[in-house]
Amino acid sequence: MSNPSILILPGDGIGPEVMAEVRKVIGWYGDKRDIQFDVSEDLVGGAAYDAHGTPLHDDTMAKAQEVDAVLLGAVGGPKYDVLDFSVKPERGLLRLRKEMDLYANLRPAQCFDALADFSSLKKDVVAGLDIMIVRELTSGIYFGEPRGIIEEGNERVGINTQRYTESEIDRVARSAFELAMKRDKKLCSMEKANVMESGILWREVVTEVGKDYPEVELSHMYADAGAMQLCRWPKQFDVIVTDNLFGDLLSDAAAMLTGSLGMLPSASLGKPMANGRPKALYEPVHGSAPDIAGQGKANPIACILSFAMALRYSFDMGAEADRLEAAVEKVLADGVRTADLLGEEGVDPVSTSEMGDAIVAALDASL
Ligand code: IPM
Ligand code: MG
Repeated sequence: MSNPSILILPGDGIGPEVMAEVRKVIGWYGDKRDIQFDVSEDLVGGAAYDAHGTPLHDDTMAKAQEVDAVLLGAVGGPKYDVLDFSVKPERGLLRLRKEMDLYANLRPAQCFDALADFSSLKKDVVAGLDIMIVRELTSGIYFGEPRGIIEEGNERVGINTQRYTESEIDRVARSAFELAMKRDKKLCSMEKANVMESGILWREVVTEVGKDYPEVELSHMYADAGAMQLCRWPKQFDVIVTDNLFGDLLSDAAAMLTGSLGMLPSASLGKPMANGRPKALYEPVHGSAPDIAGQGKANPIACILSFAMALRYSFDMGAEADRLEAAVEKVLADGVRTADLLGEEGVDPVSTSEMGDAIVAALDASL
């Protein structure tokens, strides 16, 4: 059987720096565990625009459709703010999500013990936190038609459309119930059924799907109340399922509960391919952080943990994913900190590549 294939798209800003550390980890699995991947690399976002005048070349899109998993760094930067909307770096990422039909975006928010003090919330509110947000990623207001800026009378009107079909809700709800079955069997669905018809339909379809998962305790919350509850007592949640836009907001809020955006990975999964693996793209939740790009300050952990998710969800190597996550946990417990994680007295930050090296050393120690 051929090696599993990975397409690496480092993208912009700190993307290439953090991805270089993922490469070290991939190399470690080849050298020390004899787990080989066929790795190729290409451009996305502003980097692709600079080279090709488009944030995602058709050839790159075609490659992404063929590989077993795509690993993406980050896209965007101030340099590209002036570009027309249609060629902004973010459009490259949105095209990948849409054309690969990656409808279930898994965003874990986990608080590492060593970092519980970093949260802006009290330690007992976040210590031991382990929740999973499942965000619908291919529909809703991000893609709904009509959209645009039109002239009406003597002024302009900006339009976006929130739109969900029953089947779109059904499939992401099923992904969330399946995950809940493997976790604490609790699922909270969030929408605004009090003001939006799409929210009413969302609640109905999720409730219907829930009949196939009688063991899962299903609850519903308005998304605004959900945001409040996430800050008040996040440990009440296990899995949360929500739409594209609410999921964008709630996952940033949940991420910050854990102390640093630099810690959180994500997996975006679609339908199974012919080989049984799901279409998949893995990326850190953080952005391209142009303010610190190129300085060796970025935290590579979110990107490395995204690779751990690839091991788990694409390659069925749960034990190796556990090993990598444990290595990250060990390094943090040992007090190794990138600049975003500073706060303790007398701790000097390590660079991006030193953090990568420390994680590889912890992997070595795990053998
Ligand atoms: C995210 C980001 C993206 C989104 C941007 C970069 C298009 O904020 O992945 O959460 O809005 O989905
Ligand atoms: Mg976001």
